[in-house]
Amino acid sequence: MGTPLKILSVVGTRPNFMKTAPIVAELARRPDAFEHVLVHTGQHYDDAMSRVFFEELGVGHPDHMLNVGSGSHAQQTARVMERLEPLLLELEPDIVLVPGDVNSTLAASLVAAKLRLPVGHVEAGLRSFDRTMPEEINRIVADSVADLLFIHSPEARGNLLREGASAQAIHEVGNTMIDTLVAMLPRIRDEDAPARHGLTRGGYLLVTLHRPALVDGALLGDAVTQLAAVARELPVLFPCHPRTRAALEAMGIDAQDMGVRLMDPLGYLEFMGLVEASAGVLTDSGGIQEETTHLGIPCFTLRDNTERPVTVELGSNTLLGLAPERIAEVPALIAAASGGVRSTVPGWDGHAAERIVDVLAESDLPERVLASRL
Ligand code: UD1
Repeated sequence: MGTPLKILSVVGTRPNFMKTAPIVAELARRPDAFEHVLVHTGQHYDDAMSRVFFEELGVGHPDHMLNVGSGSHAQQTARVMERLEPLLLELEPDIVLVPGDVNSTLAASLVAAKLRLPVGHVEAGLRSFDRTMPEEINRIVADSVADLLFIHSPEARGNLLREGASAQAIHEVGNTMIDTLVAMLPRIRDEDAPARHGLTRGGYLLVTLHRPALVDGALLGDAVTQLAAVARELPVLFPCHPRTRAALEAMGIDAQDMGVRLMDPLGYLEFMGLVEASAGVLTDSGGIQEETTHLGIPCFTLRDNTERPVTVELGSNTLLGLAPERIAEVPALIAAASGGVRSTVPGWDGHAAERIVDVLAESDLPERVLASRL
């Protein structure tokens, strides 16, 4: 048996943790073939945004913490690059894995590619075709430098090929975020989150809003006014991202006083427990569009576009537009959706991480890169 392949994963934010946890677990199941190093950039640093996920998902502590914290996009990206480069030089991984589309993904993929280390992008090929979203730039750059493009939805292949990706680099492996959901569902149900909040199954709307396009301007106030109106007929729960909380405070909006149940960010088990038993979810998140699709919960996306069109095609996700006034339609749309939309997407089956690790095991990339350096 040869030396184990050294895989280094870089995570930075909440959704990255759920996407990477099953890969960490699968690599640990094959210790003869792989060694794994987990690097946390520290883009998300509050306990509620970070620590709780490592504990709940059983990932253990990251091996390295870069503590980059908040800042402008350039500052945050630059700090990750500066702090990651010496670590990659020291550790010499065979492959660097980056999940998702956040600033940490962009920064890590650039550093690794410049050091001529093979890069694997998990969740490659998603496109909103909206470059005002920072995530869209991050996706395009990460995909353009990645050597292994792990896709989880049918349109991703076409998006990548159109941009000139090599067909051999694309691997349709499925959705690791759904792996986490499938693995955790028994525990999620055991927790009975709705009961702990005094709620009945199917008796409330769950809300998450955090994107700059929505929360950094006047639309946030409009959204809260609309949510307060909905709350008169259906309880509205709003676990609040720190960016949104800060914006509400800055604008002097007291959502709680207006009848919306505002709360701090929740851990994974509690949050997914509330999703799973909700009447519907209103969100501007990417991952939640996928999780609700898997669970058959009606999702209403307060954005003009989605990089996850499969969730709309399957009928579980409705794109409302960046139009807070449409929140008023949500109770009627929920009633119309009753009966549930239980839909499956190929590869959203709990086994995506196994397929990724199979690809890593068979890849000749590390040897090819080494040979090209000699
Ligand atoms: C980031 C991602 C977004 C993802 C989201 C998930 C980018 C460009 N955006 O957005 O795609 O959907 O994570 O949550 O990478 N803050 C805290 N504590 C924290 C983290 C952030 O208070 O632990 C506050 C800071 O004031 C910070 C603001 O939230 O300035 C925004 O954080 P940042 O990491 O820049 O982006 P997110 O909005 O979290």
